[in-house]
Amino acid sequence: MPGPLSGRDLLSINDLSPEEVRLVLDEARALKLRFYAGERIIPVLRGKTIALIFEKPSTRTRVSMEVAALQLGATPLVFNRNELQLGRGEPVKDTARVLSRYVDAIAARVYSHRSLVEMAAYADVPVINMLSDLEHPLQALADALTIIEKKGDLSRLKVVYVGDARNNVAHSLLLVVAKLGGHIVMAAPRQLWPRSEILEAAKLAAEETGAAIELMEDPREAVKGADVVYTDVWVSMGEEAEAEERRRLLQPYQVNAELMQLARRDAIFMHCLPAHRSEEVTEEVLEGRWSVVWDQAENRLHVQKAVLSLLLS
Ligand code: CP
Ligand code: NVA
Repeated sequence: MPGPLSGRDLLSINDLSPEEVRLVLDEARALKLRFYAGERIIPVLRGKTIALIFEKPSTRTRVSMEVAALQLGATPLVFNRNELQLGRGEPVKDTARVLSRYVDAIAARVYSHRSLVEMAAYADVPVINMLSDLEHPLQALADALTIIEKKGDLSRLKVVYVGDARNNVAHSLLLVVAKLGGHIVMAAPRQLWPRSEILEAAKLAAEETGAAIELMEDPREAVKGADVVYTDVWVSMGEEAEAEERRRLLQPYQVNAELMQLARRDAIFMHCLPAHRSEEVTEEVLEGRWSVVWDQAENRLHVQKAVLSLLLS
C-alpha cells in the first residue's frame, strides 16, 4: 500500500504538513535506532535507482545521499551538471522527462529554485531539493531531528537564527520550526530578513501550530533565553559577487562566546556546515561546549534515509 508521502516531490519544507514533518522525523529516528542496533542495510528500495545532480559543490549532501541510497538497497547515480547534456543547454524539462524513464527519483542541487520547479513539473518520478537559492529542506529536517534529540519537544523551545536570514538554510529552518510549533527568532540586518513568500508560508503554518515568529535586527536581544543558536555562512554559493558588502553588513552578527553567554546556560550551537571560522562563527564556539554540529551533520544521513524510503516506497 502506498504511504502518505509516496510519489511526492520535496522541494520545500512547505510541501509537508506538520503531521508529515513529524512522520519523516519519526521514521528517521526509527532508522537511526536500527542503524545503531547494527542494521546498516535495510533494503526497502532494492532495485531502485536515484539520480543525484549537482550544479554546485557538496560534501555532506552528496555523501550522505549516496550512502542513504546504498543503505536502503538503491543505486545512486551522481552527476555534475556539466557531465550531462544539461550543461550544454539541453532544457531542464527534456532532462526531467528522459531521466524519468530510467530512474525512480531525481535529486538536484541547483542555483535557481525555478529549475527544480520545472524539473518537478515535467518529471514522472519524485524530485528532491538538495539545496537551491531558496531552500534546503533536507538540512532543515536533520536540524529539527537534532534539536529534538538534544532538547526535546520543539514546541517548548526558542530557536534563534543569527546572520543571513534570507538564505536557503534560514528559510527552511524558519518553515520547519513554524511547522513544529516552536518559537523562532531571526536576527539579521533588515535587507537580509527572509523573503516574503517564505515568511508568509511560515506565518500560515504558525496559525495552525501555535508557533511564534519574530524578526529583529539586534542579535544580542535575539539570543536572550535561546535554547538553540543557529548560524550559516554570510556568503552563500552563487553570491560571491556580493561578498564584500555582505561581510560588512553581517559583521555584528558573528556568533562568538560573548554572544553565546547571553543564551540559556544549556543552549546548543548549530551550523549546517561548511563553516567559516572567524566570520559567522568563532573557533571557540564551533569547537566549544555548545556545539552539536557533528551530530547535526550525521543526522543528514538518517533523515535522508527516511525521506527516500517514504517518497519511493
Ligand atoms: N550542509 C550541506 O548541505 O553541506 P554540503 O554543501 O557539504 O552538502
Ligand atoms: N547557505 C549555504 C549553505 C551551504 C550548505 C550556501 O547556499 O552556500
